Amino acid sequence: MNIKNICCIGAGYVGGPTMAVIAQKCPHIKVTVVDINEARIAAWNAADLSKLPVFEPGLDKIVEEARGRNLFFSTEVDKAIDEADMIFISVNTPTKTYGKGKGMAADLKYIELCARQIARVAKQDKIIVEKSTLPVRTASAIKSILDQTGNHVQFQILSNPEFLAEGTAVADLLHPDRVLIGGDMSPEGEKAIQALVAIYAHWVPKENILTTNVWSSELSKLTANAFLAQRVSSINAMSELCEKTGADIDEVAKAIGMDSRIGPKFLKASVGFGGSCFKKDILNLVYIAKSYGLNAVADYWEQVILMNEHQKQRFSDNIVSTLYNTVSGKKIAFLGWAFKKDTNDTRESAAIKVADNLLSEQAEITVFDPKVVAERIYADLEYLNTRSIAENKKLLKVSNNPYEACENAHAIAVLTEWDEFKTYDWNRIYDRMQKPAFIFDGRGILDKISLESIGFVYYKIGTGD
Ligand code: NAD
Ligand code: UDX
Repeated sequence: MNIKNICCIGAGYVGGPTMAVIAQKCPHIKVTVVDINEARIAAWNAADLSKLPVFEPGLDKIVEEARGRNLFFSTEVDKAIDEADMIFISVNTPTKTYGKGKGMAADLKYIELCARQIARVAKQDKIIVEKSTLPVRTASAIKSILDQTGNHVQFQILSNPEFLAEGTAVADLLHPDRVLIGGDMSPEGEKAIQALVAIYAHWVPKENILTTNVWSSELSKLTANAFLAQRVSSINAMSELCEKTGADIDEVAKAIGMDSRIGPKFLKASVGFGGSCFKKDILNLVYIAKSYGLNAVADYWEQVILMNEHQKQRFSDNIVSTLYNTVSGKKIAFLGWAFKKDTNDTRESAAIKVADNLLSEQAEITVFDPKVVAERIYADLEYLNTRSIAENKKLLKVSNNPYEACENAHAIAVLTEWDEFKTYDWNRIYDRMQKPAFIFDGRGILDKISLESIGFVYYKIGTGD
């Protein structure tokens, strides 16, 4: 089957970059990314490439090359569905906030709406690709909705989870460790799988394209995220023990990471993992395990999240106790708000929880982040509903200059590992702070010796005295 026309429903952090790369690598395929969010589509179509809704290094160049040639962003969902041979579903699958499974299960209402819309519009056979992260066995639910279409259309459902990480999305898409495609084991299913393999084969070596049954593919995505998050929680658990014993977490991470069975990646202790995926996907995994009565499995994975919550809490607790047990009326400068460097995404960022804790202690916070805008920061706090919007605005300011953000501060908290923080004129910052001048490095990126020689009292996650 030769695919000429692709539609992707959902122009978010995954749909946008993924389709941009497919369009760049397959100029013979028309790729249309659709979304119901008009502002988002307008931003994808912005003439000024610095206004794209997703910031990812290298993405602007790819969009510039393909947009208007074979890459299109549109709000005309029905039209794009109708024209496409292959439809990617890349809509959000957040944690449910109501009803059964509230706070744990994945909310599949957006997925179901897509399936119903496809069923209504489709007049010819189509391949449907699950790009969103979904609970294992979702493909059967999608299939049963699609099969009600009445238009005598045949659908094949594939699972093709996305493993890109934000901040490195373009590099991850261009050189994926593997591409995973799950499909039905029937001859028609195999044809659909091969149609998608052929698309990726334009730039991914064949041996890195893995094909499996649908359920293995769906479950592999949840498993990968659970394992990655578990590594962060494991190193963070050890960081607390390091602080008590005089061991240094970076030295421990290096020592264990050189064991080829463990490997060096994903062993950086931090103030806690964030991002839209880890917490949501583990909660979903825990919910699925519980729904099969596998309580020991559920408890095991839930601990990864509990450890992460503990890490954020103890970071803010340490700031309060170090600042003589009160931060009321004290200025604390936040360097970073994004959940990791090189992204403007703040979903589940540790900074949000740490700020909320400190604001509850009546601290006055000034935030500087190179890519996150003030509206986003206030929206993140507003979402928690801990205090009024007016109070959040009174206690927390946003600055677009790091030196100004740190001026007169009692303490600086590093919440994101942006590279530029390492290059600041720390003498200049020190001179304009309250004394003693504290730094709480939640990312372990600054140089302890040089900061202490300037006069800072420096605290790093995972090192004691
Ligand atoms: P996102 O919220 O950035 O984007 C989803 C988009 O889908 C939104 O713009 C929304 O308006 C749109 N949408 C929702 N319902 C729609 C409908 N019925 N019709 C048209 N558009 C609709 O989400 P995201 O970060 O791109 O994540 C998408 C999926 O990919 C999720 O399942 C997520 O778990 C998974 N995923 C995310 C990442 C990541 O790094 N963000 C990585 C791998 C997988
Ligand atoms: C993650 C997965 O890595 C990716 O494969 C999946 O597709 C989506 O979820 P993402 O959330 O974008 O990607 O970023 P990731 O690099 O995994 O970082 C997640 C969080 O863990 C960040 O807050 C990061 O700062 C933190 N982290 C990561 C650490 O604290 N220490 C580490 O060693 C690695």
